[in-house]
Amino acid sequence: MIVAANFKTNKTRKETVEYLKELKTIDFENVKVAVFPPQTALTEDDLIGAQNAYPTVNGAYTGEIGLEQLNEFNIKRILIGHSERRHILGETQEFIAEKFNFFKENGFEIFYCIGEPLEIRKKGIDAVIEYLKNQFRGIDLEYEKLIVAYEPVWAIGTGVSASIDEIRATHAEIRKFTSKPILYGGSVKLNNIEDIIKIKNVDGVLVGSASLDVNVFKQMIKKA
Ligand code: G3P
Repeated sequence: MIVAANFKTNKTRKETVEYLKELKTIDFENVKVAVFPPQTALTEDDLIGAQNAYPTVNGAYTGEIGLEQLNEFNIKRILIGHSERRHILGETQEFIAEKFNFFKENGFEIFYCIGEPLEIRKKGIDAVIEYLKNQFRGIDLEYEKLIVAYEPVWAIGTGVSASIDEIRATHAEIRKFTSKPILYGGSVKLNNIEDIIKIKNVDGVLVGSASLDVNVFKQMIKKA
């Protein structure tokens, strides 16, 4: 079981250090835990991954960080394809695939996010799968360090997660494309995590808002 926290644009470096210290007061030997803090809070710690980086060692990409900056903190884990980067920052599938391949070549563990918007979900499961297939373009779905995160856009930060049936059916379809772990993300909370992780083909969760409170996140890990 994998339980990951995506802080997005929340928490300072100081808060993240305190968070990690508190998090490690519990024993999570049987659960793989990952924490994605903002770039200013990247630190050398096994749990840490980067929310984003530019597919370059270094160079002229104002506002971005590259491999050189991640190497400084020994970071070997990255989130790629998150819906906020696709929809708010305008990342195309081509660029996302370029990032994927760069970080694959550099041996990173890649949490690769996919997910459909509401208008596609309303059309039914076939339309959803067609949409997700496009988000697999250029991606090696058998990369040994790949973890897929299915996050329906309409469930992210809305407080309304996908239903158990929707998650079950979608993960079963995604499973046809990859044998690697598949996480669910989108309004995973303390009160629904148990039901979600019991679903077949759900290998863990990617948690946004609920992960911001370390005590809540600790309880979520315990439930996993
Ligand atoms: O990457 C995690 C995420 O997008 C889900 O956010 O706040 O719905 O748990 P949230």
